[in-house]
Amino acid sequence: MPRLKSLRCFIILLALSVAICCFLGYILWNDDPIAGLNHGPRFHMKSRYRLGEEFDNLNVSDHGDIYKEEVLFDLAQIKTKKDQEIHDAGYHQHAFNVLVSDKLSFTRPLPDVRNKVCKDKHYPDHLPNVSVVICFFNEAFSALIRTVHSVYHRSPKHLIHEVILVDDFSDDDELEWRLKKYLSLNLPGVKVIRSHERQGLIRARMFGAHKATGEVLVFLDSHCEVNVDWLEPMLARISENRKNVVVPIIDIINADTFIYEASPLVKGGFNWGMHYRWDPISASTHASTHAEPIQSPTMAGGLFAMNREYFHELGEYDPGMDIWGGENLEISFRIWQCGGRLEIIPCSRVGHIFRKRRPYNSPGGDSFMKNSLRVVHTWMDEYKKYFFNVRPEAEKTTYGNISDRLALRKKLGCKSFKWYLDNVYPEQNIPDTNGEGRKGNMMAQLIRKDIVIKRKGLLKHMGSGLCVDSEGDIHEKRTLLRLAVCNLSSGSRKQTWYETQDKEFRLANVLCLDIQSEEKHGFARLMKCGSFGSQEWVWNTKDGVSQLFNPASGMCLTTNTVEPGSYLSLSVCSNSRLLNFDILEVP
Ligand SMILES: *[C@@H]1O[C@H](CO)[C@@H](O)[C@H](O)[C@H]1NC(C)=O
Ligand SMILES: *[C@@H]1O[C@H](CO)[C@@H](O)[C@H](O)[C@H]1NC(C)=O
Ligand SMILES: *[C@@H]1O[C@H](CO)[C@@H](O)[C@H](O)[C@H]1NC(C)=O
Ligand SMILES: *[C@@H]1O[C@H](CO)[C@@H](O)[C@H](O)[C@H]1NC(C)=O
Repeated sequence: MPRLKSLRCFIILLALSVAICCFLGYILWNDDPIAGLNHGPRFHMKSRYRLGEEFDNLNVSDHGDIYKEEVLFDLAQIKTKKDQEIHDAGYHQHAFNVLVSDKLSFTRPLPDVRNKVCKDKHYPDHLPNVSVVICFFNEAFSALIRTVHSVYHRSPKHLIHEVILVDDFSDDDELEWRLKKYLSLNLPGVKVIRSHERQGLIRARMFGAHKATGEVLVFLDSHCEVNVDWLEPMLARISENRKNVVVPIIDIINADTFIYEASPLVKGGFNWGMHYRWDPISASTHASTHAEPIQSPTMAGGLFAMNREYFHELGEYDPGMDIWGGENLEISFRIWQCGGRLEIIPCSRVGHIFRKRRPYNSPGGDSFMKNSLRVVHTWMDEYKKYFFNVRPEAEKTTYGNISDRLALRKKLGCKSFKWYLDNVYPEQNIPDTNGEGRKGNMMAQLIRKDIVIKRKGLLKHMGSGLCVDSEGDIHEKRTLLRLAVCNLSSGSRKQTWYETQDKEFRLANVLCLDIQSEEKHGFARLMKCGSFGSQEWVWNTKDGVSQLFNPASGMCLTTNTVEPGSYLSLSVCSNSRLLNFDILEVP
């Protein structure tokens, strides 16, 4: 009997302790944002939405005001475990901040960044109507839907003949299902067509173009937001001459914060490695109003408008090209060499999320190299030697059969590449040695402003009274940052931080405070400045307490302990005193 009793006791105790553990686990997981979150599995791929779940977590409403920076920073902040999952999976799958994208209204207002002259312009009543073709592969639902809404929202109704979404064999079932349901409820006019195997951007666009019946084709990337009056100026130019192919100015939607920023007026070029680049516009053009069309040697590729019949006459795209790369130069050369014009329309603006990397790979290898070879062999005549100088390994790479494209060139009676260089791109440098010529300009480099120092001082960790100091030399990249006794002597460069207008912290004005949140240990370190998201630090100040928030990671700067030598890392923002920092200004 006593044995039975103690067994029963044991079972009751066991049940109780399991219950207590579960309860504690629940409390810790839910109420303490610090617990578990930082150390939880990264890149959790579990699906966020279940079949049957309604769209109550989506924000369709337009609240009328442009989202202020503070609001966007707040949306970027990770507050729950679910936020963390959305954030991490979003960066992994899409290379931008899906956490913010999901919270923004689908028809959010954008700053009208057009030149004043543009705002006063009037366009003909009678313009050709358009088929908007948007190809996507595993795109983030909210970004894709926002692209579509922005088109309907900011275009005159009668000009939108149709919107065609080309699903290039996405393998995200949930996306397919949500899209179907959302469109049928909210945007029933949108056509969705799906390829039966992965085609890549180039063939997917041709697929979409073949289904289109509007007078003009407008190709858009699947993560854009078109801006006020984006369509009319492009259509006006096409209606003047059907051989005008036009591109808008591509403004920047920050991939981490979704802040909309105007791009400078630049045109498209390329270097001899066959990489697209942005070229500054010459001073003479610059002097004009910034509202007239500007001829551009090439296009970036993602967004342009072209008369539909002319697109077919001119040979669409090269169907022998794979997934991505090179097609934008191919169509640019073809337009110019075969009798068309390619222009940038400064009054037309479309925002585009500039991702930091291409989040998918090309099945079947390096599509960029193969595609570039098809371009140089078809269009560049004797100038192709400069490509081989830069990429000698290209000589051995196969690129398939281009005889159809050469026949097209002949049939259309296209001009030589020398004509193109002399007449369209005279500023292109012809290398005399084996040089690649000028390097490519990233859009980001062109908009990089002067460095403006806002404050200079010690970065003090208030919880410990210690200061942020570099472990190694201030010139050494990847040197870890840690807490050390504050050194107020003026010569101490290892602790002197320069806070800039661009929200960077530069140690001794040399390298930048940087955290790669995807890295396992995730410690703060010094890196070459200019990496944007991982180097952006926003002061979160509340009740006299200030924290350093990093919008890209959605987290705050912290230390693990209050001892000298403690490294700095990221943590979910909370009111822990470990997260409090301040600048002690020094002259
Ligand atoms: C939707 O947007 C409004 C206005 O910006 C905001 O107040 C609200 O919190 C958002 N809703 C969600 C679920 O994010
Ligand atoms: C677009 O233009 C074509 C050709 O003029 C016309 O047949 C079609 O009905 C127009 N579409 C719309 C939606 O008005
Ligand atoms: C290349 O394609 C053309 C036309 O499609 C064909 O006539 C020719 O035989 C092909 N060449 C090779 C080497 O396969
Ligand atoms: C403080 O900085 C000065 C100048 O770099 C240096 O000479 C001194 O040793 C430092 N003091 C401490 C305690 O590290």
